[in-house]
This record gives sequence, C-alpha cells and structure tokens, in this order.
Amino acid sequence: MSPDPPPTAPSRVRPLPARPWIGPLALVTAVFLLHALPPYVGLDPGEARNAVPESAPPYYYPVLVAHIFLGAVALVTACLQVWPRLRVRLPAVHRWSGRIYVLAALPTGIAVLAITPYVQMGPNQQVGNAVAAALWIASTVFGYRAARRRDFTRHREWMVRSFALAFSIVANRIWLMLSMAVFAPEVLTGGRPDLEALRQAVGVSAWMSWVVNLIVAELWLGRIRDRQARAGAAAAAPRRERAGAVSAPAGEGRSSHA
Ligand code: HEM
Repeated sequence: MSPDPPPTAPSRVRPLPARPWIGPLALVTAVFLLHALPPYVGLDPGEARNAVPESAPPYYYPVLVAHIFLGAVALVTACLQVWPRLRVRLPAVHRWSGRIYVLAALPTGIAVLAITPYVQMGPNQQVGNAVAAALWIASTVFGYRAARRRDFTRHREWMVRSFALAFSIVANRIWLMLSMAVFAPEVLTGGRPDLEALRQAVGVSAWMSWVVNLIVAELWLGRIRDRQARAGAAAAAPRRERAGAVSAPAGEGRSSHA
C-alpha cells in the first residue's frame, strides 16, 4: 500500500449554478422516500412491500425497518452533504450532518448483510446486495477516517463513492423496471411471469444499481483529478519561469525573454 499523502485543505467550491443536479437529486430523493416509507410506518409486517420470507428469523422485520428508516436518514443527509452552499456558509451543519450520515449509513449497510441471505430472488440478488453493502460500509469508514486525519481530498473521494452506493437504492427502482421489461415483461402487462425470469430481472437490477453508480462516480472523480492537475500545472508554470529568471545569469535571462 502506498503511504497516505500529506493532509490537504478543502478545495474551493464552485458557485451553485455550476451544480445544477442538487435540486433534481433532492426531488428524486423526496419522491423515492414518499413512495418507499409508508408501508413501514405502521410497523406491521403484513404491510411490507415484499412479504417477510417464511424462512426468515424473528429479527428480520425489525432489522428491515431499522434499515429502511436509517437508510432514509442517510439519503437526506447525503443530499445535505453534496450541497456546496451549506458546506461553505454553514460548515458546522455540514460537519454534523456528515456525522449523522455516517451513523445512519453504517447500520443501514450492516442491516443489509443481516437480511439479504433471506431475500427471495436467489443468489444473484443476495450476492449483489451483499457486495454493495460491504463496499458502502468500507467507503463510508474510509471517508470518515480521511476526514479525521484532515485529508480532505481522500475524504471527498471516498464520500462520493459512499453516496453513489447509498443512492443505488434509488437507481434500483429504474433498473428494476428496465430489467423487468427485458426479462419478465409479463409483470408490466399484468401477466404471470416465470419465476426464473423474475429472479433474473431482480438479480440483474441488484448489480446494475450500484455498479453503474460507482462507474459514474469514478469517471467524475477522474475528471476532477485531471482538472486539478491542469490547474496545478498552470499555477506552477509562472512560478517556475520567475524562479528561472532569478537564478539564470543576466545575459541568459534577457535572451530567453527577447
Ligand atoms: C447499498 C445499499 C442498499 C442495499 C444493498 C439494500 C438492500 C436491501 C435489501 C436486501 C432489502 C430487502 C429486500 C426484500 O424485502 O426483498 C431492502 C429493502 C428495502 N430497502 Fe434497502 N438497501 C440499500 C439501501 C437502502 C437505502 C439507502 C434505503 C433508503 C430508505 C433503502 C430502503 C429500502 C426499502 C424501503 C426496502 C423495503 C423493500 C422495498 O420497498 O423495496 N435501502 N434493501
């Protein structure tokens, strides 16, 4: 493993109009939560969107409910964390909502590991969920630890990955519809799908939801790294020229700028 780079200062934040996705992200999150939470508010297992599996242990439903409500807290605080104005104008609120995000995301991810062995759509779905949850937990821990040692570059990178994994649950709603359309179209037309086709659709959507989000996050981080490298090189060039002019013999300096 390469040694950690020295601590870095938080990067300057661009003005809000350069981040046009903040509003849509908050809206999509609100729509998702308003649709996802109601069946669980009454704490009645009979109301659950997917029936509690018969093979599930007694802890399944309470852990599922904790997963859902803590997951909601994680999504709301993630929206606050990526809101540049809040970060700049109210840094204390940013810090506190960041702590709440970590405290909500970790048990939400751990709950996935506890419930996914019992979900009904087979190993493809179970493994896809478990890998997503493990990566979500790991990236959140790495992001938190980077912030503690004030390495804000690494902190931001790990937290972008963590948020991409958190929002995989929102993306899952879209991937599920697409997978159903491809593998089990009968579901969308009110027919009775084949169980294997249904498992295929749910399994594929379980993987696509987070793999695509992570790819997008990595591409975005790569672009930021390139931009920062170019900005760093552009800032260093005049300094190098000035240093060269000072250290070069007088005649040489004059001829090079002729
Ligand atoms: C990596 C992230 C996540 C994974 C892998 C994951 C996985 C799971 C699993 C395995 C279930 C049980 C599925 C079943 O009942 O058959 C579930 C249910 C649920 N999860 Fe998550 N979850 C994640 C994040 C979240 C977040 C952030 C929320 C936000 C509220 C959330 C909300 C729900 C809801 C509402 C259910 C109930 C079933 C449904 O409506 O689809 N999950 N999740």
